[in-house]
Amino acid sequence: MQRREFIKLSTLAMGATLAFNEVLTAQDKPMEIETGVLKIDPVLISPETDTMTVVWMTESASSGWVEYGIDGKLDQKAFSSSDGLVDANKSLHSVILKNLKPGTKYSYRVVTKEIQKFEPYKVTFGKTIITKENQFTTLSPDKKKYSFVMLNDLHGRWNLIDHNLNFVKDINYDFVVFNGDIIQDPQSDVAVIGFLQACSSFAGSIPIVYARGNHETRGGYARNIKDYLRPEGKYYYSFTHGPASFLVMDGGEDKADDHWAYSGLVDFDNYRTEQMYWLTSEVKKTEVKDAKVKIFVSHIPLYANGDANTCKDGVVKWGTMLDDLGIDLYLAGHTHRPDYVEANSVGNAAPVAIGGAPSMERCTVTVVDVSETKLNVKIILAGAEMVSKEIKIN
Ligand SMILES: [Fe+2]
Repeated sequence: MQRREFIKLSTLAMGATLAFNEVLTAQDKPMEIETGVLKIDPVLISPETDTMTVVWMTESASSGWVEYGIDGKLDQKAFSSSDGLVDANKSLHSVILKNLKPGTKYSYRVVTKEIQKFEPYKVTFGKTIITKENQFTTLSPDKKKYSFVMLNDLHGRWNLIDHNLNFVKDINYDFVVFNGDIIQDPQSDVAVIGFLQACSSFAGSIPIVYARGNHETRGGYARNIKDYLRPEGKYYYSFTHGPASFLVMDGGEDKADDHWAYSGLVDFDNYRTEQMYWLTSEVKKTEVKDAKVKIFVSHIPLYANGDANTCKDGVVKWGTMLDDLGIDLYLAGHTHRPDYVEANSVGNAAPVAIGGAPSMERCTVTVVDVSETKLNVKIILAGAEMVSKEIKIN
């Protein structure tokens, strides 16, 4: 292979992995374009104003990168490496595109080279797989109005993704929130691969925002799903889009850490405390505290009607800070009882929209329209509007 001179644009560290961005020249482009099938087509995850994560999976061991650019060009390249080694000889790939421009449309495609044999002094590459070009738009602090949708509690019933999104096909939504228990007790990679394959209908251009549910903490593969869904990130995080700041948090399990079902292998009490400390500093950030709209996303609701299971420890550890911050809307799932909890009814200072259950009759897609002055929340239950509420922003 011809030696090339790269112009390095940035080297940014987040966690253990580095993402490198380069300007591509014509000779960098693969000469032989071969087509092939990916196990997971490229999906976009964790959108932000200046970053986007691209995840894909090949059928066999490979190395890969993302080519991307604005104005229809693919003149930049990003790949991942850690500890000085470019990611290779693996089938699951994730690359975080960094230093992107807010509110900007990017084109991208993914290139993967199969690795047939990886020897110390010689790597034998197989075919090159190049995906078709796709586009995404980064989030923007300047966007005045937009919509997003939430799905939750699919419990492995992947057909409910397209089924529910079909009910909102006439709405332009900027991202899809998967608010937990999407995967049912992951025992192997099959569970998470099935989920991301089912997202291929939209997630190549509309990104996923992922919040972990308690069923995604169960099973022998629970410790691996982060590589797919929040590579290099935590399950609790914040991001902004237009007038809104989003806090995504993780209540962990719904029973005490010493419950027999967890075999002494969970530590969620400490984990919720860890998030309390994170929240303490997060609520002081300008982009969070000064955002006109504040939306809280977590799988297990902090507040719910009746005897529904709630995250009581989350209320104890986070509740006062969230009240002081002035959350405008809580989004949740978990109870399998779609519901809208009015503000100030069960100790909640803001309303709670709770999505539905994993059946055709009880599944929901929740639509939220965001603007500086109001939120409109619709819970669509099995295709019919169950809830339509307007929340005024003070
Ligand atoms: Fe749950």
